[in-house]
Amino acid sequence: MVKIKEIKASQLNTQEFINEKAGEISALVGDGLAINALSGGVDSCAVTMLGHKALGDRLKTYFIDNGLMREGEPQQIVTLFKKLGVHVEILDAKKKFFNALKNITDPEEKREAITQTFYKDVFGKLVKESGAKHLLQGTILTDVDETVAGIKRQHNVFEQLGIDPQATLGYKIIEPLIQLRKDGVRKVAEASGLPESAYKRIPFPGPALAARVIGEVTEEKINTVRKATTVVEEELASTGAFQYMAILHQDRVTGMRNGKRDFGLQIEVRCWDSIDARVAKPTNVPFNILCKVADRMVNQVPGVVSVTYHIGSKPPSTMEVV
Ligand code: XMP
Repeated sequence: MVKIKEIKASQLNTQEFINEKAGEISALVGDGLAINALSGGVDSCAVTMLGHKALGDRLKTYFIDNGLMREGEPQQIVTLFKKLGVHVEILDAKKKFFNALKNITDPEEKREAITQTFYKDVFGKLVKESGAKHLLQGTILTDVDETVAGIKRQHNVFEQLGIDPQATLGYKIIEPLIQLRKDGVRKVAEASGLPESAYKRIPFPGPALAARVIGEVTEEKINTVRKATTVVEEELASTGAFQYMAILHQDRVTGMRNGKRDFGLQIEVRCWDSIDARVAKPTNVPFNILCKVADRMVNQVPGVVSVTYHIGSKPPSTMEVV
């Protein structure tokens, strides 16, 4: 396996990097077509901009609506990119993902189900129908490191695991950001003309809200964690933390509501200080902000009776729970 040469954010010449990567993409795709999936995260936003610089309309950009995204996300992303002159097509794949996740409780099996549905089922078909031979994606070095170390199978890592995408999926994968970490990607995203709302956006994992449901992922549980995520994102944005999230636990706990027993749901809140996601510490969130989060959570997210704040560090925790 070829060792990937890291480019640290402090050493990155952003404009040079953008020109070089756009040139590489053009050379690889030639006069053919490429496709990419835009999730709205900073990595996929940066790749979309690089790909459009290189290929213009010969890059077809899709937002895969897997049913696991945050409130209003698909439409927000389409609108943002429309302003930048990039057409994004929404593809409704909700049923496929929920079917694939049925009865799966093991974290790695969940990740694998999402990977297979995304790359084989959804993208396999898209590639065939569109005639594209290349998929452009925003894998970054941290994704590769953790997957190769066997910590977590990130949904977007293949070659470094000895999987040849051409042979197993039927298309080639181009990964222009693979030498960077999150801080470097943000610089590239800013220099590509993306607005602050995109280049400063907190990270969001490929498996989306499925990474934040412990146990089986169902539409109902996703709806709960989606509402909890809205609360956390609105209330913790002022912390300026690297990432913040809500997690839905599997166990129910005894609570009380209107003088009656309510055997309800538990939400865990995590808020991380980090530079590049390799190591992270819990943010020292003011207690009054945590109380506001808890108050909104039990009042606005149906069924929740308990809210906890995670205070472990990475390692040994990882940032997501799944
Ligand atoms: P962990 O949980 O591994 O997360 O400490 C480190 C960073 O990576 C994000 N993450 C993912 N991103 N695909 C992604 O694109 C994934 O499968 C995935 N899993 C975790 C996570 O949100 C955090 O920023």
